[in-house]
Parts: sequence; C-alpha cells; structure tokens
Amino acid sequence: MSSITQKKNDKPCESRRNFLLAGATTFVMASMPGISSAANLLVKEYPRHKIGQISQLQTNKPMDFQFPPSNPISTFVLVKLGERAGAGVGKDKDIVAFSNLCTHMGGPLNGSYKSEHKAMGPCPLHLTTFDLTRHGMVIAGHATESLPQARLEVDGDDIYVTGIMGLIYGTQSNPMAWT
Ligand code: FES
Repeated sequence: MSSITQKKNDKPCESRRNFLLAGATTFVMASMPGISSAANLLVKEYPRHKIGQISQLQTNKPMDFQFPPSNPISTFVLVKLGERAGAGVGKDKDIVAFSNLCTHMGGPLNGSYKSEHKAMGPCPLHLTTFDLTRHGMVIAGHATESLPQARLEVDGDDIYVTGIMGLIYGTQSNPMAWT
C-alpha cells in the first residue's frame, strides 16, 4: 500500500480505484482540451424540465426520476454525493444525475448506488461500475462508454434537467423530451 495514497485519502481500500481513475483521467485529459469541455461537446439540449428540489435531497439518498418524460423505460438517478463532482450543481457542486441504463447492454442500475465509492454498480448483468464524481466514467467491467449524465441547473430551490451528456442505451440519438 502506497504511503502517498494513505496520506492523501486516509482510505487504503480505495487505492486501486483511485489508481484506475487517475490513469483514465490522465488519458482523457491528454487527448482533450479539458474534461468538462469534452463533456460539453456531447451534450443533447432539452427544454428545461424540473426534476426535484434541493431541500428534499439528503446526502447519499438517491432518488429516481423518469427522463425524458416521453420514454417510460428510461429513468435517471438524482443524488447528492457529499463531495464535489464533475458537472455537479448546488452550493457544494455535489448534486448529479445519471441514467439508470448501463451503457454495455442496458442492464438496470436502479438501486445500485454505492455511497462509500460514489459509484453506480456493479451492473447485475456483467458487473460494470461507474464513477459518479467523474462524469460516469467506467471504473471496471464490460462497458466502454461512460454513463449518460444529465446536465443540471439550479434555480432557487428547484433542480432542472437542461440536457444529457452521452447516449441513453437503446437509442440511436437521445429522444426529444416532448415527442
Ligand atoms: S449490461 Fe451492464 S455490464 Fe453488461
């Protein structure tokens, strides 16, 4: 166990996860101008749609919501992670939302949030796990695509979805919200 890892995180059990994430992040940042600008390139715009309120959220208590509203099999999870996340919103930039459909073969990720790792998974079909602090990046497993992340906006206490970064599993393009 690296003493550097222990000093930085004081959580020895997370050293392998952090190593994998650091390597993947280095690759992405070396090939793109910046991780957030890479995510912005892939965003599908939607009319602003309210999905919750900050005052109703508790840290590490995820809430599912259907999105887009016209797609009955597509749900997302809204969660306050308790630590800053890529594209996170709110005072602490820790509120994020992700698709519940695994990007490998559409396995259902509902209820698989792991608060100790800020991750979704393992997927019940082939065990892929996704990091919610880093735009849904794959930590381990068969999937090669990050989990689609909802772009969120806060207006007072209200939380809105304004777009999706990534392609919802089973679609050739993300459907419009109202069609
Ligand atoms: S469907 Fe999720 S890992 Fe295969």
